[in-house]
Amino acid sequence: MSNYDVKDIKLADGGRLKIEWAEREMPVLRQIKERFAKEQPLKGMRISACLHVTTETANLMKTLQAGGADVVLTASNPLSTQDETAASLVTHDEIPVYAIKGEDNITYYKHINAAIDHKPHFTMDDGADLVNVLHTKRREVLSGVVAGTEETTTGVIRLHAMAADGALNYPIIAINDALTKHFFDNRYGTGQSTLDGIIRATNVLLAGKVFVVAGYGWCGRGLASRARGMGSNVIVTEVDPLKALEAVMDGFRVMKMEDAAKIGDIFVTLTGDINVIDEHHFAVMKDASIVCNSGHFNVEINIPSLDKMSKTKRLVRPFVEEYITKDNRRIYILGEGRLINLASAEGHPASVMDMSFANQALSLEYLTKNAAKMEKKVYSVPEAIDQNIAALKLAAMGVSCDTLTAEQVKYLGSWEEGT
Ligand code: ADE
Repeated sequence: MSNYDVKDIKLADGGRLKIEWAEREMPVLRQIKERFAKEQPLKGMRISACLHVTTETANLMKTLQAGGADVVLTASNPLSTQDETAASLVTHDEIPVYAIKGEDNITYYKHINAAIDHKPHFTMDDGADLVNVLHTKRREVLSGVVAGTEETTTGVIRLHAMAADGALNYPIIAINDALTKHFFDNRYGTGQSTLDGIIRATNVLLAGKVFVVAGYGWCGRGLASRARGMGSNVIVTEVDPLKALEAVMDGFRVMKMEDAAKIGDIFVTLTGDINVIDEHHFAVMKDASIVCNSGHFNVEINIPSLDKMSKTKRLVRPFVEEYITKDNRRIYILGEGRLINLASAEGHPASVMDMSFANQALSLEYLTKNAAKMEKKVYSVPEAIDQNIAALKLAAMGVSCDTLTAEQVKYLGSWEEGT
């Protein structure tokens, strides 16, 4: 194969072992792969996927390929690629991959364009960068695209804005909206993998630290509960009064970032918004504060402002940059402000990605049958798919749950019976 761009093709064998390791924890996707291999529901379909290039994503790519699809993969973030995984997909599965960990922005977009050159019938995105380039710079390819999927909260928000502007040219299923996605991937996945990223980057003890979580969405609440479990004293900052109230009643201290900035030891942003940690927050932080982001884009921390406030900066460990401010405080930025769980760790564990990617595979199958009837807007994952994935996951875990009796079904459907 010549049509790929990865760091080092010789890494392939190590990558294959890790892909197999992840597959052990992905029983739902495995079952889908077996069925796809028999039924070939994606036969003849060209798919361009723009996802984090991880061992879990590799298993999704192999599932789509088993279903008959002609797949290419490009990175959805410059710092999240696992180079061994990329090499293995090219060598052992003949899947073209365009992704190199640490690539610059020019290369990142060159890779997205290479995936678009594949002339996809379907797009699969995580953050909507592929869809954005298709709609703004590669419109000549748009007419051939039938439908797509979007993995993450940030991407779904961008797509809703496109649809509201009448700018979206084909239907897209928001995988993030499936309950079997955000209840588990966003909450338990982000909770664990963000701590994993911070620990691998810094090796700091979390017990006894003041740990500030910005944003109490599904990701933020997962992280807050996991950080508390590690013995941190957790503070939550929020802009939504309802979520702030939930955080209070979940037992967290809630305050404004300008107050939290003065007392925090470790800060993590998970809001999807810009400049959540800004110049006036850096100005009051304690010496040796650690600051990182677990939201999709590297916009949540205003690093350019910290640059201006600082007299020096240096890399003191992989993924740990030390800034010395002009008033002689050390501030540590992890992973260049990019999502720390994928920059310095391996992203969410396979067991939750199993459900997220089962939603991707089954939604794509659904689109092959239904896209022609759908409008150019953002759709939720069909409820039947979501429920089916929950049932399959539970069965794979060897857990049974009750079913309603006929009497209970009748009771729930009636309105006459009261006190
Ligand atoms: N997003 C977060 N964790 C991930 C993983 N392990 N693979 C792909 N996308 C992810």
